[in-house]
Amino acid sequence: MTHPRRRPALRTTAALPFALAALLTGADPALAAGPVGASGVGDPYFPLAGNGGYYVDHYDLTLRYDPTSRHLDGRAVLTARATRRLTRFDLDLHGLKVTGLTVDRAPAAHRRDGQELVVTPRRAPGAGERFRVTVTYSGEPGPVTDPDGSLDGWIPTDDGAFVAGEPQGAMTWFPANNHPKDKSSYDFTITVPDGRTAVANGVLLDRRTAHGRTTFHWRQTEPMAACLATATIGKFQVEQYTTRSGIRVHNAVDPREATAAAPVLKKLPSVLEWGSGLFGRYPYRAAGAIVDRAPRAGYALETQTRPVYDHAPDLSTLVHESAHQWFGDSVSLTSWKDIWLNEGFATYAEWLYAEQHGGARAQTAFDALYATPADDALWAVPPGDPGGAHLFDTPVYARGAMTLHTLRTAVGDRAFFRVLRTWAAEHRHGNGTTDQFRRLAERVSGKGLDALFRTWLHLRGKPDTP
Ligand code: ARG
Ligand code: ZN
Repeated sequence: MTHPRRRPALRTTAALPFALAALLTGADPALAAGPVGASGVGDPYFPLAGNGGYYVDHYDLTLRYDPTSRHLDGRAVLTARATRRLTRFDLDLHGLKVTGLTVDRAPAAHRRDGQELVVTPRRAPGAGERFRVTVTYSGEPGPVTDPDGSLDGWIPTDDGAFVAGEPQGAMTWFPANNHPKDKSSYDFTITVPDGRTAVANGVLLDRRTAHGRTTFHWRQTEPMAACLATATIGKFQVEQYTTRSGIRVHNAVDPREATAAAPVLKKLPSVLEWGSGLFGRYPYRAAGAIVDRAPRAGYALETQTRPVYDHAPDLSTLVHESAHQWFGDSVSLTSWKDIWLNEGFATYAEWLYAEQHGGARAQTAFDALYATPADDALWAVPPGDPGGAHLFDTPVYARGAMTLHTLRTAVGDRAFFRVLRTWAAEHRHGNGTTDQFRRLAERVSGKGLDALFRTWLHLRGKPDTP
């Protein structure tokens, strides 16, 4: 069912300035024409998220963090490819001070404009050309506040930092093309004082100690959206092993959460095995969990290969974040309004796991939710376009899962599970949209599903028939 993995949303009116910003961005002729990369990828919920004119192939991030002073020194080397000639382009960076910036080794003019770091290279990369941007920066990073009132990004804790970037927070700790449409490989080299551990995505390649500091080198080989990167730091107990199917597990657990976390983390290999049987082969070579104590965050996040938990998770939260590795991480969003493709799927995975492990049937979960009165928060926004301020509200999770259950009922188990597996396979390490998902379900089932998706994703209020 639904879990309090996020703090109760604080309502804000931030949606209005965002909508206005969208209009302004769209109306700026300087962005529509000419060899200038746009300030956003055109996402209506986050108009300034990501940038136009290039994709990033690889991020090489070198960070040094002092949990006592909360000071971060960073260097980011982005290897990018221009999609057109670029006399000017943007990166996303919130706060922090830029102390140096080069493009292909030549110092480049740059200025800050809100979250946009506007770069004018000495020589414009041509269409299709690769270029390399090096940014050195420093400061005391902190989170951004999302339109739903939650904190997102670099969140300092009593022993380090809880780092979770969905939807916007990547730019609080590195200059990024901050939208899931752009997926890249990553190297992280993170130096922290001895006794602290820095945990990022993928595989730990190296760890060395010198002069009272330890440096951790992590590599994420498979493509990753910036929002799923982490560099969580704290005092952690570390556990490493390889599963029978060859997945390299690395768990980092705050000792204060260790007793509660242990029995749940023990199940990770079997949960990944279960997911692989149902959704297709696990998409990554690495896995694990970061169990922190981060009350300011108040939620867990499916950071790629290695979810971060703000406290010891229960089993269904572990199942939820594990299911995201297929749905949300490997298959990423193209637009934030399709967020149900992440949260509805991960929630439905919880129902499936329960159903297949002696718990309630998915139908029972559906019925219980459908019984809630029409004025319940469950029906407050349509999950197919909830608005930026309601991105992680109950309808996205619960009504999103109900949408999948309704689909399953309409097409039958055989077709339904084939749709899930085909979705994960066809968009593996890529992106997807709700329309593509509906068309796939129609193709596999041979049924017209427009009305079903319209009713469950877009109808305002409670649908008349389950
Ligand atoms: N995707 C996360 C989860 O499954 C929630 C992230 C919430 N982020 C936020 N900024 N409120 O459940
Ligand atoms: Zn989720």
